[in-house]
Amino acid sequence: MKRAAWCLPLLLSACAGPQQSALDPGGSHAQGTANLWWFFSVLLGIIFLLVFGAWLVPLFRRNRGVDSQLLEQTHRPPAATEWTLAKRVGAASGVTVLILFGLLVASIVTGHAVSQPQSRANGMVVEVTGNQWWWYVRYLNDDASRIVVTANEIHIPVGRPVLIRETSNDVIHSFWVPGLQGKTDLIPSRVTTQWIEANQAGRFRGQCAEFCGLQHAHMALWVVAEPEDKFESWMNNQLKTAVPPSTPDQVQGQQIFLNHACVLCHTISGTTAAGQVAPDLSHLASRFTIAAGTLPNTKGNLAGWIGDPQAVKPGNHMATLPLRSEEVQPLVDYLESLQ
Ligand code: CUA
Repeated sequence: MKRAAWCLPLLLSACAGPQQSALDPGGSHAQGTANLWWFFSVLLGIIFLLVFGAWLVPLFRRNRGVDSQLLEQTHRPPAATEWTLAKRVGAASGVTVLILFGLLVASIVTGHAVSQPQSRANGMVVEVTGNQWWWYVRYLNDDASRIVVTANEIHIPVGRPVLIRETSNDVIHSFWVPGLQGKTDLIPSRVTTQWIEANQAGRFRGQCAEFCGLQHAHMALWVVAEPEDKFESWMNNQLKTAVPPSTPDQVQGQQIFLNHACVLCHTISGTTAAGQVAPDLSHLASRFTIAAGTLPNTKGNLAGWIGDPQAVKPGNHMATLPLRSEEVQPLVDYLESLQ
């Protein structure tokens, strides 16, 4: 019941707008794949109907000129019928080969088109590293002071090509945001890439598309495409040091955070928390979800997640903290102040 209560708002939010369908493309790459899908579906649908029709026709046709006595004796149709059949089967095989070749060419052309940006001008590079079961995200920049680290949520400016450079820290994962691009595997010790580009503002849900362990299904992410000015202000906010606590509750919450094992795994900039094995929390409150897209980012969900992470995502690597019940509220207040 508790779990159902968490799932419902997420389901509703998923239905209410954000896109996670390769047939609802939000950019040129996904558009190419969607076009190919429609081309295959319509063409093969027509062929299916033709074949089905050709199979039905003889059922409703009368015996035309076949000498049944001769057929019974020789168990062969007349030579002329045999020749006609051979010509038809040959022609059908030829057409089949041509169609398959045409589909192959269409696939190759589309594959080539979606593997490149339309133009590299003004492009950005975002590093994505797969972890069981979350996404480490780092925006590369020649200016080291403008490198942003975040998790599970990638903001991109509309109309700019973004190169996603992928690798993995543990097992093979697969980066898949269907509304923007196809899948690319994240492989330990290797770097793979894919280009994405949104031609409209919107939220695109993605998920891991390669079975990677118990919580594979709860390894989601969001790509948020927004106009250039909104993206810039998001970026500038992410570049800031985490806001210091401003209420007594938040001050207490920060102390609780810094005095527990949280600091061994998580980073909050401007504090002594500098762990590198779990999501950076410096701007946690600016994200839509927690636990890699599993729960909407609300105080209640965060309290539930911190209180018993294994109940939400069994098998995940977050430790259950020995918190006293009165410590949860200040801790959540502090974390949810990290805009
Ligand atoms: Cu990561 Cu499946």
